[in-house]
Amino acid sequence: MKTEVSVSVLSANPLEFGNEIKKIEKSGAEMIHYDVMDGIFVNNITFGIPLLKSMKGKTKCILDVHLMIQEPLKYVDDFADAGADIITFHIESGSDVAETIAAIRRKGVKAAVSIKPNTPAEAVYPYINDVDMVLVMTVEPGFGGQKFMDMSKKISAIRQYADVNRTTAAPLDIQVDGGIDNVTAALVKNAGANILVSGSYLFRAENMADAVRTLKEDNSTNAE
Ligand code: DX5
Ligand code: ZN
Repeated sequence: MKTEVSVSVLSANPLEFGNEIKKIEKSGAEMIHYDVMDGIFVNNITFGIPLLKSMKGKTKCILDVHLMIQEPLKYVDDFADAGADIITFHIESGSDVAETIAAIRRKGVKAAVSIKPNTPAEAVYPYINDVDMVLVMTVEPGFGGQKFMDMSKKISAIRQYADVNRTTAAPLDIQVDGGIDNVTAALVKNAGANILVSGSYLFRAENMADAVRTLKEDNSTNAE
């Protein structure tokens, strides 16, 4: 599968937000990763609905919304109306998983479930045919710039399970988020991930476009 990159604006300069969005667009990244935190599901508070709405229709990038909030179901319609193309929520949140997926789908938005490092692969299996994407967290959600945790086994297990059990035409997207850089990208791609979220590595880079290219480079161990 082709590797895609989703740039986390958690590491962007808030005072330069508009320019940062242009920089992401020019970098060749497919998506903008928008981390929403409510101070309850995680110990941090970030962006909400108005800032997302300000980007709606203003960028060619896919708006990839990652909800780290306790009651995602309550806000699905608001984030969809504000321009989300993909809505990811956590299986560990307080909302009913099946109901939340259905609510996202009703809005015509791509639906994804996410699991924290301590949640096993099996937690996503019941929803394998109902989601477009699974997000495997490679750090504890809450903050950018944390150290990568190797979730290769979990990613491979989900990829294998989807290969066997998914009956929908579109292949499952597997996204990873947390500590992704030039070194860790190869590990997660070889395990079966095809969408890489990256924040601090890309914003730290002297040239974001070069860094995006590096993340996409084919370094598979089983290339034919
Ligand atoms: C963490 C967020 C991530 C974060 C990744 O809870 O979900 O999207 O921005 O940042 P880096 O790439 O710096 O680990
Ligand atoms: Zn995220």
